[in-house]
This record gives sequence, structure tokens and C-alpha cells, in this order.
Amino acid sequence: MLTTRPRGTNDILPGEVEKWQYLEELVRQVCREYGYGEIRTPLFEHTELFARGVGETTDIVEKEMYTFTDRGHRSLTLRPEGTAATVRAYVENKLYALPQPIKLFYIGPMFRYDRPQAGRYRQFHQFGVEVFGSDSPAIDAEVIAMAMDIYSRVGLQDLELHLNSVGCPDCRPVLREQLRQYFRPQLANLCPNCQGRFEKNPLRILDCKNEKCQVIGRQAPTPLDALCDPCAAHFEQVKSYLDAAGVKYVLNNRLVRGLDYYTRTAFEIMARDIGAQSSVGGGGRYNGLIEECGGPPTPGIGFALGLERILLTAANQGIDFPVNIRPAVFIATVGREVDKQAFELLQQLRRQGIAAEKDYLNRSLKAQMKYAGKLEARLVVILGDEEAARGVVVIRDMQAGTQQEVALGETVAYIKARTAS
Ligand code: HAM
Repeated sequence: MLTTRPRGTNDILPGEVEKWQYLEELVRQVCREYGYGEIRTPLFEHTELFARGVGETTDIVEKEMYTFTDRGHRSLTLRPEGTAATVRAYVENKLYALPQPIKLFYIGPMFRYDRPQAGRYRQFHQFGVEVFGSDSPAIDAEVIAMAMDIYSRVGLQDLELHLNSVGCPDCRPVLREQLRQYFRPQLANLCPNCQGRFEKNPLRILDCKNEKCQVIGRQAPTPLDALCDPCAAHFEQVKSYLDAAGVKYVLNNRLVRGLDYYTRTAFEIMARDIGAQSSVGGGGRYNGLIEECGGPPTPGIGFALGLERILLTAANQGIDFPVNIRPAVFIATVGREVDKQAFELLQQLRRQGIAAEKDYLNRSLKAQMKYAGKLEARLVVILGDEEAARGVVVIRDMQAGTQQEVALGETVAYIKARTAS
């Protein structure tokens, strides 16, 4: 136990972490362009927030939360997603008093007690955005276009954007009743999960993965059939804004998503090549959630994408991120006397913004050169007693295999010029 990490978690080591940093910088850049400000909320919240916000009948709340009691006997939960906490922060910090809409983004770990497999973890990372205070279909389109922009800048291909509208508190009760009527004669043949959903949330039966449920549900009424006029009009507008922006989508009238807060627009982005866990992101509108969480009636919409799944898809598609962790310079020494001089030079280089490294294990010159090769240093500065006495160093270009002497006092300027290119 001492030497194994908890199931469903990952160590992200140097070599891999640079890909994360690249991806994080890419999404931050997109957020700057789209005008979204970063929010950082706690990793844990009062359990009640998720029970209310995410929904009592969701898989997340029913079986996937990391809930614990703290020493003050409060029930707390590690956040399973970012929307509820962002809504809580919007209400608590009275962001509704500022000019609307408020456009926020977050990046960070989320926790779900899920069954781990490739692309599905118990601690995973989401990048997400939330927009509060606008019911405009143009915002739905902006949020969706932003998500698609990110995937395309990563270089991902063959993604499918599935789009649906799940209606509102006016039209959904009608749909629920239609669904119950449709499924009632077959209730005994549905999977145990869906038998539970039948009363609590029959919409979820539509996206059950169980083959039998899928066959039974083939002719079932869908959200799009039951939309009220305002929801239908909103959906038409969302589609026309997406068309205007050239964002391609697939209408999927069975898409209901696994969180209870959605109203109207719901969407999910699927990758074809990461196996069962094909959803690389999803989101939708949640016009009732802010009020549900104690705020003034305020429309909201957002999405989140799984960073692990993006990296996995990128790896499967052979996408290389431009990451560079090679030191520009390695300083090799011959003889102990020059070690302090080497250290001084090392620090001078670093202060000039040049990534530099030296040996800390008293290796022989040969072993130092080998180590510099392993580190993939571009240049190696060789500092020996004899050279030190003459006031010079030898600088070796590792790729070209050439070397030349440079005056010790000129070394930093020389390296700066060489590494600038
Ligand atoms: P979600 O569909 O539950 O939505 O999660 C969004 C994305 O997080 C998924 O598409 C997937 O890429 C990633 N993800 C979810 N669970 C895991 C897991 N166990 N391991 C790895 N990746 C995972 C939400 O969380 C909503 N809060 C999105 C949203 C924001 N809706 C409106 N605003």
C-alpha cells in the first residue's frame, strides 16, 4: 500500500507533465481570446451543494461521490465536477450584481468513485467554462464553438459534436409522462438501473448503454418531439448560430447527459478512437440551477472537457506537442578545483534565462559527457584546470560534434548568442 497510489489516480511525471502544461496554456490562451476569467474554487464543498446542484438521481450523487465527515462533523465532498461550485461562488460572491454575462473558466482535478479503465479515473482533470446571466442562443453557440476551437487547436480529428435540446420545466413534465406511458408495458424488461429511472427520471432511459434498453427504447418519444414553442425556437436559433460559425454538429435526440441540471441545449463531443470512454467533453444550458442553489433566477450554460481524454486521443492520433525540456547547456568539469567556477557560470547562465545543468555526482569527464547526451543538452561547456589556468573554456556543440575555445569572460555572451537561434 505504501508504494502504490490509490486506484484510479495517476502520477504525472516530468516528460509527461509538459504535455499538460502545453494543453493548459493552450486553453488559457483560448479563454483570453473569448474573454473568460479564471475562477479557483475549493476542492471540496458541502455535500448538499452537489446533492442539490448535480441532482439526487444522478449516478454521480447516488454512487460516485467521495464524501467524508470532517472533525467538525460536517459532511463534505470532493468536487465531482465544476459547475455546482462555480454557481455557488457566483451566488456567494454576488457576481450577479456585476455587468452580465459573467464568463468564467476553471482547470483542475475532479473526483468520482467510478470504475477505472482507460480514460476513466477516480481523480481526473477538467477544463470547464460557465457563463451566467444570458439566455441568448448566441452564447450557447459561443460556448460550443469555443470547445470545438480547443479540440481543433490541439489538432484532434474525427470528433463528433452531438447536439440536442432537453427542454425546460414547462415541456419536460409532458415528455416524462409520455416516456412513462411508452415504457410502462416493458418496465419488467428494462435493466435494474432503468427500472429505478422509470419513476425518478425516465429521460435517462434514453441514453442507457444496455442493449435491451436500447432496443426497447427505439421508438420512444424524445426530447425534441416534446419541446415547447420557446424551447424549439431557442434550439433553432442555436443551430443557426452554429451554422453561421461553420460549426458542424450531429443532431442526437437521445442525448440527455448524466447530470440533472440541464435545460434546453445539451451537447457532447465524442472521439472515435479512445474506446468505451469516448466522450471528450460535454455541457449544456442550466437555466434553473442558480436559483436552485439560492441565487436570483439567472440563466447559465457551460461545458467541461476531460484533459486526460484529450491527451489520450491526441496520443492515439499521433499528435506530438511541441514540448522542450532539454537544457541548453551542460557544464562539465575536469578536476575539483574548477567546480565552484562551474557553479558560478551555471548561475550566471540561468540568470540570463538559459536552461543550464551540471554534474552533482562527481562523475568522470567521460561520464559527464554521456550524461549531457542523455539530457540532450545542445552545448557542453568543458571547464578544466588547464583551461582555467589559461582563462578559457571549451564549448562543444553536441549535435554538430564540433568544439571551440572561448575566453571564460566571454562564455555567457557566446552561449547567449548561440542559444538564441
Ligand atoms: P461531464 O460530462 O460529467 O460534465 O464531464 C465532462 C467531461 O469530463 C467528460 O466529457 C469527460 O471528458 C471528462 N470526465 C468525466 N468523468 C471522467 C472520469 N471519471 N475520468 C476521466 N475523465 C472524465 C460535467 O462535469 C459538467 N460539469 C460539464 C458542464 C459544465 N456542464 C455545464 N457546465
